Amino acid sequence: MVRQHVNPLSSFHQLPRSLPPPAELFAAAELPLHLDIGCARGRFLLALAHQDPTRNHLGVEIRRPLVEAAEAERRAAGLPNLRFLFCNATINLQDWLQALPAGRLALVTIQFPDPWFKQKHRKRQVLQPPLLAAIAAALAPGQALFLQSDVLGAIEPMVALVEASGGFERPAGDARPWRTDNPLALPTERETHVLSQGLPVYRVLYRRNASPLPLNPGPAADP
Ligand SMILES: C[S@@+](CC[C@H](N)C(=O)[O-])C[C@H]1O[C@@H](n2cnc3c(N)ncnc32)[C@H](O)[C@@H]1O
Repeated sequence: MVRQHVNPLSSFHQLPRSLPPPAELFAAAELPLHLDIGCARGRFLLALAHQDPTRNHLGVEIRRPLVEAAEAERRAAGLPNLRFLFCNATINLQDWLQALPAGRLALVTIQFPDPWFKQKHRKRQVLQPPLLAAIAAALAPGQALFLQSDVLGAIEPMVALVEASGGFERPAGDARPWRTDNPLALPTERETHVLSQGLPVYRVLYRRNASPLPLNPGPAADP
């Protein structure tokens, strides 16, 4: 079945949503935090949170039924270091990131984001300059931003934005333009599917550098 992407620019998805702080989400809120943007049904994080109890894992997703299903499974599994939240990451994450205690955010992942191929739909891409600036402000130097996709047209604009910001660097030994391996312990659902088809996956790992804010947010996407 071919699924229609959600349009994040619809008026419903522009509404402000206040997201609960880590203290209301996790049993041990002081643990380093992994934020997975566009987590879909959450199976990657359900497995990772079980395997990696040293971090809290937060998945955010714009399709509410997926979040409800993921949360039901998370509750049944009794995982204290995992939560899923319904929101439009492009709009609703900035204040939440800004309110995080310094040094709390350890890793941000954006994996297989919905591709928007037409130039006029560029603003529907999840990683827009204000969200990247908020991620950069919340990540301490050395902390990581990991991007991967099977669609060059989806990952190249993200890479262009991140590199134009001046706030991130690739680890010196990493292959260019794309890493050959996944630094995460587990693959996502989409990744497993793509790899099972023998198709390529384009990956890049960035580390926050010591550049002070404000960063150059890069070119705004065309309307
Ligand atoms: C192709 S799926 C990939 C899911 C998962 N990361 C994986 O790799 O298997 C992309 C997901 O991002 C979600 N998404 C798209 N735009 C979003 C936004 N602005 N905020 C939150 N989630 C979004 C979509 O609804 C979809 O579930």
